[in-house]
Amino acid sequence: MKQKTMYLCSECGYENAKWFGKCPSCGAWNTMGEFKVKPETATRGVANFTRGTSRPTLLHEIETNDESRFYSGIGELDRVLGGGAVHGSFVLVGGEPGIGKSTLLLQMCQEMCRNAKVLYVSGEESLRQIKLRAARLEIKSPNLFVLAETDMEQIINETELLAPDVLIVDSIQTVYKRDLTAAPGGTTQIKECSMSLMQYAKNKNVTIFVVGHVNKEGTLAGPKILEHMVDCVLYFEGERNGPFRCLRAAKNRFGSTNEIGVFEMSDHGLLEVTNPSAAMLAGHPSGAAGNCIACVMEGSRPILAEVQALVAKTQFGVPRRTAAGVDYNRMVLLLAILEKRAGLFLSSSDAYVNVVGGMRLDEPAVDLPMVLAIVSSFRDKPLPEGVMSFGEVGLTGELRAVSSASQRINEAYRLGFHTCIMPMQDVDENLMHQMNIVRVHTVGEAIQAVL
Ligand code: TYD
Ligand code: MG
Repeated sequence: MKQKTMYLCSECGYENAKWFGKCPSCGAWNTMGEFKVKPETATRGVANFTRGTSRPTLLHEIETNDESRFYSGIGELDRVLGGGAVHGSFVLVGGEPGIGKSTLLLQMCQEMCRNAKVLYVSGEESLRQIKLRAARLEIKSPNLFVLAETDMEQIINETELLAPDVLIVDSIQTVYKRDLTAAPGGTTQIKECSMSLMQYAKNKNVTIFVVGHVNKEGTLAGPKILEHMVDCVLYFEGERNGPFRCLRAAKNRFGSTNEIGVFEMSDHGLLEVTNPSAAMLAGHPSGAAGNCIACVMEGSRPILAEVQALVAKTQFGVPRRTAAGVDYNRMVLLLAILEKRAGLFLSSSDAYVNVVGGMRLDEPAVDLPMVLAIVSSFRDKPLPEGVMSFGEVGLTGELRAVSSASQRINEAYRLGFHTCIMPMQDVDENLMHQMNIVRVHTVGEAIQAVL
């Protein structure tokens, strides 16, 4: 039977039997690439149906062993995976080039190969380079296998021969299948190679970690085509020049996607940060105007972080606004609320907001600390020592309750804060004695209370 030719958009993954100059799905020009599909062998219909190996099974008859997870040996990574990696799962680790993905996975190998057979395949570095990196990371394990290869068939063959429990492929953009005409790193290659690895993972019950570089727009290169196939998508993010890195689950079939893992990049690789609040607050200036400590919940864990703001008179034209670590639109919205509901004249001021340490705070609870930092900078008046806050701000300037208030206050107390500005909501009786808890109805009241 003749091989069928399909066309695939490298931007959005749209497939069609016809070629288009402009992709009908995403509208990008000149992105449709050709790829060959294997001809279907069996004709459709029950009459010609030959039974394969898979059968409909009763759900309650399926046997699983409880021991289906194993620890990667890195606590922060296990936390994000939802309590260790699941046997036979397919994990995609995404992040910008140079953020530390290879470092993280090589360090994970070191821990994993204590009680599992691990194969690390690199398509980016030679064996010598891997060895040099391992030396820098002080990886001395005698039973870690490495392979420098980019040909997918070779990788699968070698993996079959070695039969490891864990396979790491670094990165999906460098591997290719010879029978495809498309270049490595393109959508077709990424899709096909991932499918082969996926099938291998499910058939042989091997856990596979695949590295995928993310392009500037923050999407996994070879767009989102991998996300729906894999079991877990972890993003490794942070500022490249800053020390802290965050590992976040964007998708997890075996756990929650709320947890984050925090790491610090050092000369000897990544170190786990088990007490992120203390790390984020290190070097926190006292008595400076324009900062406020926030407490956000990352999964089950409260984390304190410093929100900084700088409000300065606009020299000419439209005022500048930038936000790092918080949502830009949210910041602009809060500025508008301050102008309208608290009577602050901010429309002729530039405003910059930054979260220290390169963390990204996406929770609404960061609204109030952001407001306090902005007003503190605007008035050039520092917040009193030992004050922290959290709370969501509504469009009428009212403060709205957030989840896990007691846990947040507890964490702040543990790190030596004595006053908490928060919305009107219940907290633990015991905490009322430990902390000075100021509950306020509106943004105006919050500003009055501390500034
Ligand atoms: P790498 O893991 O190669 O990034 P990726 O695989 O995501 O592209 O990390 C590269 C960066 O990490 C590089 O800029 C240097 C830094 N680094 C350290 O600071 N300390 C170390 O011990 C190592 C191995 C790397
Ligand atoms: Mg790398």
